[in-house]
Amino acid sequence: PEPGWTIEADVVVVGSGIAGLSTALRYVERTRSGRVVLVTKDLLANGSTRWAQGGIAAAVDPGDDPLAHLVDTVEAGAGLCDPEAVRLLVDEGPEALRWLIAQGTAFDRTESGELSLTREGGHRADRIAHAGGDATGAEIERALVDAVRARDRIELIEHAFVPDLLLGADDRGGSRVHGITVHVMGEGERDGVGAVRAGAVVLATGGMGQVFASTTNPGVSTGDGLALGLRAGAEVQDLEFVQFHPTVLWLGPDARGRQPLVSEAVRGEGAFLVDVRGRRFMAGAHELADLAPRDVVARGIARAMAETGADHVYLDARHFGAARWERRFPTILASCRAHGVDPVTDLIPVTPAAHYASGGIRVDHDGRTAVPGLYAVGEVARTGVHGANRLASNSLLEGVVFADRIAAALAEERPPATVPARPGRPGPAGLADPAILPELREIMSRHVGVRREAGGLATAAEALAELAARDTADVPPGVPAWQAANLLTVAWALVRAAARRCETRGSHWRSDHEQPSAEARSRTFVLDGSGIRE
Ligand code: SIN
Repeated sequence: PEPGWTIEADVVVVGSGIAGLSTALRYVERTRSGRVVLVTKDLLANGSTRWAQGGIAAAVDPGDDPLAHLVDTVEAGAGLCDPEAVRLLVDEGPEALRWLIAQGTAFDRTESGELSLTREGGHRADRIAHAGGDATGAEIERALVDAVRARDRIELIEHAFVPDLLLGADDRGGSRVHGITVHVMGEGERDGVGAVRAGAVVLATGGMGQVFASTTNPGVSTGDGLALGLRAGAEVQDLEFVQFHPTVLWLGPDARGRQPLVSEAVRGEGAFLVDVRGRRFMAGAHELADLAPRDVVARGIARAMAETGADHVYLDARHFGAARWERRFPTILASCRAHGVDPVTDLIPVTPAAHYASGGIRVDHDGRTAVPGLYAVGEVARTGVHGANRLASNSLLEGVVFADRIAAALAEERPPATVPARPGRPGPAGLADPAILPELREIMSRHVGVRREAGGLATAAEALAELAARDTADVPPGVPAWQAANLLTVAWALVRAAARRCETRGSHWRSDHEQPSAEARSRTFVLDGSGIRE
């Protein structure tokens, strides 16, 4: 449908996790009169950020330094990090942390008032700041939402799904994004279908964990920004590197959807993994044992499960005792107890689940995609800081650091919100039957999960093609159908990327190609009329 209302802004941000909120705040901080519209498809605080437990990494301890943080990040990234992007991340990290504190984030402190820092997988120093023990994301999100609400140059539109980017041809035959269409669910000052015209559109839509049957991601993580970017002609890169968090609470073989996370910080503070026979299988598997980078631990768990025939392993943190559990990990303690597991006296059954997209829409160091006017930040973006496997707690940091870089670039460039010579759209928003989703997720988890091989990937590709060919004549257009189409698009792109990478690298484990290839090479894909191509 045609938009019933149109508003204008300098910048429109899509998404309200740490990356989107920081972009909006930084942009208004950096301009005297700049106006931002921020749209989010649920309530502001309902994205992935609020579920982040462990914390945010930055080299702020006097005994640490950004170079050491860089080395750990690059090592976890298994040869595919962009070293310059990582340098920006680690150098600007301490300032990003100070900025979050200035926005009101209450990080945990030691008795002497210093930031309390912990460790997670792949880090060789204590450099992870946390809040509320294990509720870091929730505290950051609270502080940033409060800060955004206090700014009258940021207009917030909640329950607003973005079916399309507004795209047009400029005078020189290139195309440019000049806004978004918005479908507002429910009633309010803005309702129904509208448009926001802006000089820049910043996608901060988070990840695509909902493409899998079991994930740490909330229901809103349906790959919308990635699908929008693909349809607009943006390049995507490193999509095959989906990070599986080694430890979510195992809730039985039929558990589906968002699973309770058991933070790596629990291992960072001394917990260890054992298989169902009691063997400490990470000892000897890597020099950092239970604190090896996440891909190594997820593979170790998958192997231990295969060897024992069990569908879970255990985390042992009984030696923490009740007082430490209550003080340091209250969220995890409560969620374990709610499911009948008491970590003070019991082993915690755990298993890996889809957690984070290390790849995404390819951007430069200021968040620009290949499509003029379109920017991306946070999990939806591929900045090159994560390579083939993100280092723990670098994602919240990336969200803040690159948000500020985009804000600085936009504040300087001030792209005008003019309609291009030939306005158009990147093709109609896709439509798929939401009823296909359980099947889609089973396919992805079975064939495109922690362990992959050519036959399974081919089966997945065929099954997805069959789902895509299903009749949609009776499917009513609307958010469930658009979201299902986005999930189908990103699943399909992910399978394609995974099939093309015939090596094991980072979080991409090919059991038919167990070794990394001699040359570390990152791959870019774009969507064209005939499909996704390299
Ligand atoms: C965790 O707390 O284990 C998750 C941290 C992260 O994903 O970086």
